[in-house]
Amino acid sequence: MAAGRALFSSQNGLAAVAPLSSIGYRARGLASSLPLLRRRCPSAFVSSSACCCSRPHSEGAGERVMKSEKEEAFVLTTPLYYVNAPPHMGSAYTTIAADAIARFQRLLGKRVVFITGTDEHGEKIAAAAEASGRNPREHCDTISQSYKILWREVNFITIVVLIKEQVLYNASLSYGSNYLHIAYDKFIRTTDSKHEAIVKEFYSRVLNNGDIYRADYEGLYCVNCEEYKDEKELLENNCCPMHLKPCVLRKEDNYFFALSKYQKTLEDYLTSNPDFVKPSFRLNEVQGWIKNGLRDFSISRSSVEWGIPVPNDDKQTIYVWFDALLGYVSALLEEGEQTNLEQAVCSGWPASLHLIGKDILRFHAVYWPAMLLSAGLSVPNMVFGHGFLTKDGMKMGKSLGNTLEPKDLVQRFGADAVRYFFLREVEFGNDGDYSEDRFINTVNAHLANTIGNLLNRTLGLLKKNCQSMLAFDSSIAAEGNLFKDSVDQLVEKAKYHYENLSLSSACESILDIANAGNLYMDERAPWSLFKQGGASSEMAAKASFESDYFHLVIQLDLVIILEIMRIIATALSPITPSLCSRIYSQLGFSKEQFEAVTWDDTKWGGLKAGQIMAEPKPVFARIENIKEVDVKNEVVRNKNKDKKKASRQQGLVEA
Ligand code: MSP
Repeated sequence: MAAGRALFSSQNGLAAVAPLSSIGYRARGLASSLPLLRRRCPSAFVSSSACCCSRPHSEGAGERVMKSEKEEAFVLTTPLYYVNAPPHMGSAYTTIAADAIARFQRLLGKRVVFITGTDEHGEKIAAAAEASGRNPREHCDTISQSYKILWREVNFITIVVLIKEQVLYNASLSYGSNYLHIAYDKFIRTTDSKHEAIVKEFYSRVLNNGDIYRADYEGLYCVNCEEYKDEKELLENNCCPMHLKPCVLRKEDNYFFALSKYQKTLEDYLTSNPDFVKPSFRLNEVQGWIKNGLRDFSISRSSVEWGIPVPNDDKQTIYVWFDALLGYVSALLEEGEQTNLEQAVCSGWPASLHLIGKDILRFHAVYWPAMLLSAGLSVPNMVFGHGFLTKDGMKMGKSLGNTLEPKDLVQRFGADAVRYFFLREVEFGNDGDYSEDRFINTVNAHLANTIGNLLNRTLGLLKKNCQSMLAFDSSIAAEGNLFKDSVDQLVEKAKYHYENLSLSSACESILDIANAGNLYMDERAPWSLFKQGGASSEMAAKASFESDYFHLVIQLDLVIILEIMRIIATALSPITPSLCSRIYSQLGFSKEQFEAVTWDDTKWGGLKAGQIMAEPKPVFARIENIKEVDVKNEVVRNKNKDKKKASRQQGLVEA
């Protein structure tokens, strides 16, 4: 991937300067000694001696053998976002998806460690700080905070403290309570001192393993990608295809990581672990890169001050990617714990899932596993590369300036609508274009009509005719009813899709339950039965048996619909947590009861006789489509004009 030439210079006494030929020789040796590079090894450090799966390791690395104490944890990560600018919808997208997956795993009863954070070093960030007139530290504090605020509500006291510390600037203040309900567990900043310690220790391990050497380097650099580029992948005038900005020619004396040494190992690993990269079409891409030959890449910068100093050479700083990727490990350290790799690894490494955008796949699926192997650490279980949110077909991004402001969307439409739209309408893994009309139409149709109205009209009927109380257990109501079986099947389908990260399909299956519920209601038409029941009871007291019968049938139907609403609210809670909490509360449950739900609660039978429903209130307010309203107003205005004109003409005639 790195373009240009690595020109070998003299050793600095730190790294072994190895000609590529000798690296190649050692790589062959290493590849043959690493046939057991297996996934799901409970030992997160790779060791030749006592690892449970006897996985050999590259020399010098992973002398200690540790079993992760918290093996059961599902550890998932978002990328650590660059703090050159506040979050945009593209960065919010990965985080929303990760949050939905984390919530689903929690529903399954897993201990989840959901890691997110900010990537704060490097040239790009230093330049952004300078442009904003702040020193890098202040700049990073401010922007990092704007991510935290968008993800999760910060309480009033925090806001006051932040204002006092002048950490919050006006733009972030306007987030107010408009946040995306991201329930992350760890927020790592690459400027945290614990992170710096981990990076340095990791660097030293890789160095001791003989995988770092010093060389001169010349090539074309894209500052936005923070990456040297191959000339053949560039557009006219050496423009980066992603950022459409010219790359600059750089010549530096850097430290290099011997990636080429891991070529065969990675090739073999991907062949035997095809699930390591998902979706599968991205695996082909990664295999293609490796097949084309892996080149060593430079992991330090002599021209960049804003970074972690290279151990024993403070004239160089560590390359942002060699620094940031380690955030996934350093994030695992608890407050007050010893700050070392061993401790971090024991707290949950390897990660179960790295969720990333397709533009940073190479870093995660090629560089990162090789780095980990070199340091004697296990590789993560899976890297999932999703597609881009586009606007007019172009990747939405800070560099191109065509972003969509998530805080504006949340302010106008609410977090549930934003979360639902992007997870339902963009097939996870592929690109997806945003349009406001589509946004409004989708959330109105699915959340306001199909789900919201069904609940509201059912609760209305129950209130009017049964004083909002359920007369039967839902399990009794559904006895012998085939409708229950189809709901069970749709729930199973939704679970399967969640497990396979097909979030859009999971939403679709859950919405199908609501569609089936609407159909059931329309076919059974309990409102007309209520009328008939009323009429027959009026006809004569002697017909009271009939009246009771009607009431019974109707009440059974209402219980059935309310039970599916409960199931929908459980199954959809990873996607729209706040809406689902409102549905639960309409069904007469407390906030605590909602917070305690698990996937088992998608089983039929949760609603019991005697449960009292809340006063019916719409759970999702329809969004006015301003354009449609404008068109309607225009029609009304024109009609009024026509009327006036007609009456003026009439007046003239009468006169
Ligand atoms: N700092 C690196 C990641 C380091 S991880 C150890 C970085 N940061 S980023 O802020 O530029 O991008 C973060 C994530 O946002 C990437 O996964 C990227 O794909 C995603 N997105 C940025 N724009 C996007 C869209 N328009 N659409 C979807 N996701 C996109 O890369």
